[in-house]
Amino acid sequence: MGVMHIPGHEHQGPREVSLDEIRAVLGDCRLCELCQTRTNIVFGVGNPHARVLFVGEAPGRNEDLQGEPFVGRAGENLNGILALAGLRREDIYIANVLKCRPPGNRDPKPDEVLACSPFLREQIRSIWPDIIVTLGNPATHFVLKTEIGITRLRGRFHQMGRFVVMPTFHPAAALRNPKWQELLEADFRMLGDYLMRHPAGTAPAVAESAGDAPAEHLPRVGE
Ligand code: URA
Repeated sequence: MGVMHIPGHEHQGPREVSLDEIRAVLGDCRLCELCQTRTNIVFGVGNPHARVLFVGEAPGRNEDLQGEPFVGRAGENLNGILALAGLRREDIYIANVLKCRPPGNRDPKPDEVLACSPFLREQIRSIWPDIIVTLGNPATHFVLKTEIGITRLRGRFHQMGRFVVMPTFHPAAALRNPKWQELLEADFRMLGDYLMRHPAGTAPAVAESAGDAPAEHLPRVGE
């Protein structure tokens, strides 16, 4: 699936397709084998006009049971550090690369990411955030189209098409490693600083500390 075709919405762009419409297209998805073991599809939750979109990997056990992302221990960690960025949970939107839980929380398989990611791509286009925060390697690799590890990518902003991207550690992984937790918190402070210096509607097209190629040479998210 390239661009999702919703009748009456042939022209894709910011906020032209609502999250409800994307959820309706997802329906009772059977595009990969995870449909056989999931309890609930975990579509995403939050402010449909959020400035900051958080992207995780995939639902865990609690998320699968409740149908909402980041409601387990990782979610508690995330909720606790949001204030470091001056954010509340109701300000942001949270989604995952995969909408269904991989059994035993195994890593997402490439064919699952391929099947599921068009929905995340459409969520990004609908929300049209100023910043995408990618939590952990799978989300970062999907959004930034790189295989470089999170330890090397974190701590600065990157540019992906129109979006500023801040990769950081996954809050679940950080719970197991105090050093990573420290760095995760430092990244959230950096995010808060960025949001303060760039009030809504004034975010520059290119991240100040973005390395690599100029924005126009980079593909759009997920392409
Ligand atoms: N980990 C994730 O990546 N996403 C969730 O929703 C929960 C845990």
